[in-house]
Amino acid sequence: MKILVTGGAGFIGSAVIRHVIAETEHAVVNVDALTYAGNLASLGEAADSERYAFERVDIGDAEALREVFARHQPEAVMHLAAESHVDRSIHGPADFIQTNLVGTGVLLEVAREYYERLDAPRRAAFRFHHVSTDEVYGDLDGPTGLFTEETPYAPSSPYSASKAGSDHLVRAWYRTFGLPVLVTNCSNNYGPYHFPEKLIPLMILNARAGKPLPVYGDGSQIRDWLYVEDHARALVTVLESGRVGETYNIGGHNEYRNLEVVEHICALLEELAPEHPAGVTRYAELITYVKDRPGHDLRYAIDAGKIERELGWRPRETFESGLRKTVQWYLDNDAWITDVTSGAYREWTRRHYGEQTPSAEAQAKE
Ligand code: NAD
Ligand code: DAU
Repeated sequence: MKILVTGGAGFIGSAVIRHVIAETEHAVVNVDALTYAGNLASLGEAADSERYAFERVDIGDAEALREVFARHQPEAVMHLAAESHVDRSIHGPADFIQTNLVGTGVLLEVAREYYERLDAPRRAAFRFHHVSTDEVYGDLDGPTGLFTEETPYAPSSPYSASKAGSDHLVRAWYRTFGLPVLVTNCSNNYGPYHFPEKLIPLMILNARAGKPLPVYGDGSQIRDWLYVEDHARALVTVLESGRVGETYNIGGHNEYRNLEVVEHICALLEELAPEHPAGVTRYAELITYVKDRPGHDLRYAIDAGKIERELGWRPRETFESGLRKTVQWYLDNDAWITDVTSGAYREWTRRHYGEQTPSAEAQAKE
């Protein structure tokens, strides 16, 4: 099958493409605008495969998307392109509304036009898989309870509200137009190639540089962590075997307080990188409590029973094994870190593709 993956240069999209190329026979067309969060270096050897193609396209650009669908004739879409960072959505929600909501709407319409022109066998096999987040459910108040597929939506941040809106659009395109959709809602991912604005990579890199480790509030908020390669495998399983119109929650049964996560990273660094930066005797002494995130969700925890029972998926990594691999990966991959943090990569994309930001381009076309 040929899969059109949006956001394939991002953290999870690149893990999906690496998995598809290494472990399956499917082909991939990576459709990505290469925002600050997209990096083609994250594709690794997958980018050299004959089964891989790249198109630098903004999902808000209907004309460019139509051309991509016509040229590549995909048999499925896996939609991951999004603005993904909650803190950025608080400082500037416009790009989140543009890409997550408007962009998803544009993509759905182009996919529907394409789907309706397919012959009957190809239409029967076509899938539109929308990749979403557990943040659409808001938060859990107290130490017990899990998000199920039936939990009502109650998003807290501009990011999660834009993702909730996109989930509703996808389900409307199923109910109203019969587009064969699948929706997945996953908990916090972590692992290699994670942009260092997110908690885990930020803490690893700051600790190695001897910089403060900024814990929001008192660090008691709880997240449910899943190793990104387990998520990638789950997504491909849902695409191949999920029931059309269904939602599947994905999670790793790894609930930890933020402070515990940061302490765990510090302990791993003591073992894996015992030479401290100048002036530091223990990594944990860098932990600094800072102003809390506005509207900060207290606790997320996923009931992944449906995907486990119906599709036989289970995570392979424990939090201990996954976090160890992740810390080691950041210690071993200076080149990628320098690329995404130095601006050299942005300069390269400017030279190869010209200046482009999703909202700026969409506005220019109006
Ligand atoms: P990311 O920020 O690492 O990557 C997003 C990718 O989308 C980048 O490559 C970026 O260039 C691309 N992109 C952004 N705007 C675009 C546009 N307008 N057109 C085309 N491409 C565009 O995000 P991620 O963490 O890999 O998340 C991927 C998806 O998974 C998102 O939809 C996110 O909501 C969802 N999700 C993420 C997590 C997590 O923990 N990271 C958990 C559950 C669900
Ligand atoms: O739950 C899934 C979501 O997980 C995804 O939909 C999002 O795309 C993804 O970014 C992630 O959202 P979070 O807000 O949970 O991730 P983040 O890494 O930003 O923060 C994790 C927790 O750590 C959160 O409670 C805020 C806290 N935090 C974060 C940062 C960056 C800190 O205490 N300090 C920090 O510097």
